[in-house]
Order: sequence, then C-alpha cells, then structure tokens
Amino acid sequence: MSDIAAFIRGLPKIELHLHIEGSLEPELRFALAQRNRTQLAYADVAELRASYRFNDLTSFLVSYYEGMEVLVTADDFYDLAWAYLRRANDENVRYVEMFFDPQAHTSRGVAFGRIVGGLRRAIVDARQQLGVRAELIMCFLRDYPAEYAMATLVQSLPYREWIVGVGLDSDERDNPPTKFAEVFARARSEGYQITMHCDVDQNNTVEHIRQCLDVIGVDRIDHGVNVLESEELTMEVGRRGLGLTTCPISNRWVTGDLKAAEIKRLLEFGLRVTVNSDDPAYFGAYVTDNLVALQEAADLGPAELVQLERNAIEISWLPSRAKDELITEIERYADMR
Ligand code: HPA
Ligand code: ZN
Repeated sequence: MSDIAAFIRGLPKIELHLHIEGSLEPELRFALAQRNRTQLAYADVAELRASYRFNDLTSFLVSYYEGMEVLVTADDFYDLAWAYLRRANDENVRYVEMFFDPQAHTSRGVAFGRIVGGLRRAIVDARQQLGVRAELIMCFLRDYPAEYAMATLVQSLPYREWIVGVGLDSDERDNPPTKFAEVFARARSEGYQITMHCDVDQNNTVEHIRQCLDVIGVDRIDHGVNVLESEELTMEVGRRGLGLTTCPISNRWVTGDLKAAEIKRLLEFGLRVTVNSDDPAYFGAYVTDNLVALQEAADLGPAELVQLERNAIEISWLPSRAKDELITEIERYADMR
C-alpha cells in the first residue's frame, strides 16, 4: 500500500452519501433470501455479481430495487445496517448520515415502523459497541407521485427523533425538484434538514440544481458536480456554504468517468465538497476506495484529503459539540503524520 493510501485508510472519515440498501452485499442477500424462504434468480454469489452490468442511472436502479426484495423483517434491516456499520468502522469511518428509501419497501407491503425500527436498533448498537455515530436521512423516490412522498412524510412523523433529514433520489429524468416543492416545504416545517440528488450528467441537472437553490432552499446537494457548468450557480453554492456529496466510483459506473478533475476544481474553488460511496455493494467500493481512486486521479495531497473530511464535518447535521470533537480527532491524526 502506498503511503498516501495508508494515510487515507487511517484518516478518520465521514460518510454523508450512502444508501443503506446499496450496501447490501450479495452474501447477505443470499442469507436473507434463505431466512425468508425466497428464491433468488441467481445460482450463487458469483452469478449475482456478474449480473451488475449497469452503465447508467436507470440500469443501476433496476439492480438496486431488485436487490432489496429480500428486506422484509425488522431484523433484515438491522442486519443490513449492522453489516455496513461494522465495515465502516473497520475503515475508520467515524460518522455516517445514511439514506434509506422507505417507499421501496412500503410499496412491497413492509410496514414503515419495521424499516426504521430495524435500522435504528443497528445505529444504537453501533454507537455503543463500536463507537461509530450514525443518523438516518429518509429519501423520497422521485419517480413516484408527490402525494405518495407526502403520505410517507406524514408516516415518518412519529419517528421524527430518529430521522435527521429528508432527501430525494431514484430516477431523475422528468422528475425535477419542483415536483416535490410542497413536500419539502412541509418537511422543513417539521424541522427536517433537506438534501436532494442532482445526479451527474442527467438531463437538466443544472436546472435541477437551480431549483434546489431557488425553489426548495436545500441545506446541501447530493452529487451536484454539474454545478460547474454555471458560474452563477457555482458562486451561489459557495456564497451559501452549501455542501456537495460527490461519489467518484459511482460516477464511473454511471457516466464512465470518476469526475476527478471536476471534484478537484470544486475543492480549489473552496466549495464544501465531500467524497462518499453511494452504493458500495453495487459499485464494489467503500469510502476508502473512493478516496484512493480520487487521490490517484486528481493527485491530491494530505492537506486536500483532510480538507475533504473537514468539509464533511462542517456540512454534517451533527450538533456543534460533536463537530468540534471530530475536527479535533482529524487534526490530531494529521499532526501525527
Ligand atoms: N442516484 C439516484 N438514486 C439512487 C442512487 C443514486 O446515486 N443510489 C440509490 N438510489
Ligand atoms: Zn446517491
């Protein structure tokens, strides 16, 4: 391992763009299928992995939704999140804000309380047993009607203390932020933080970023690297101090390009850009792999890597004391090197 890769591995890290359902590894998928007595359409793990041949967002989403059919009981959601959090802890991830997609489960008849109950139990155990912190961000599926998102928002209210914010994901084509303006206004009034996917190189991505700023009033943007196509929007993101949660290896699967040069440019502009894994089981790369790939492609040094983690802490939705603790931890690590 190179010195810089070892530096990345040991660096205390933050993950802000992680779909917990996208961390479902084939081995766990087979185990859950067996426990729930369902048959998978693949003979074994190798055949399942070989089926991951997506080359854009739409083809990825087909595999992603198919994978989660094995998630049925609260224990399934617990096992999913626990496996991810253990893995994250092994990589020295210190804090995670993880997305979950309740509608991908309630639409199959899984009760909302089972989903959030199982995930929350894993988060509590990870804090106690591993010392890793995590929070939940509830995403609405943008290819479903706004009314279903609103009903899901209402369903979440009894669990308000367990969910730090709301996001928007799934297929971006013809599903602009404005479609959900009312839902996000209500979410804001309920005290949720707000983020939204503006996926890389989609139709109208720049217009979607503009809507996030002008109509929705987001607290941050997921992906968002296309902001560079508009000088005005780039300046505005900087002026508001908004974060961008980029995912280099996801970008390579979806667009054929890590977007390393763009991510480096965002960093040089002083925007609060961060590096994340998105759907690590499908893209074959956790957060360390994403940082290593970006470091190699963009020739980043230790100071820039530390800055990426500082950005993540600053744009996270942690209370300020917890932020200060994490910043101290990272500074101590950087000073020791
Ligand atoms: N984009 C949109 N929807 C998603 C993603 C993503 O990167 N991952 C899981 N659902
Ligand atoms: Zn994502």
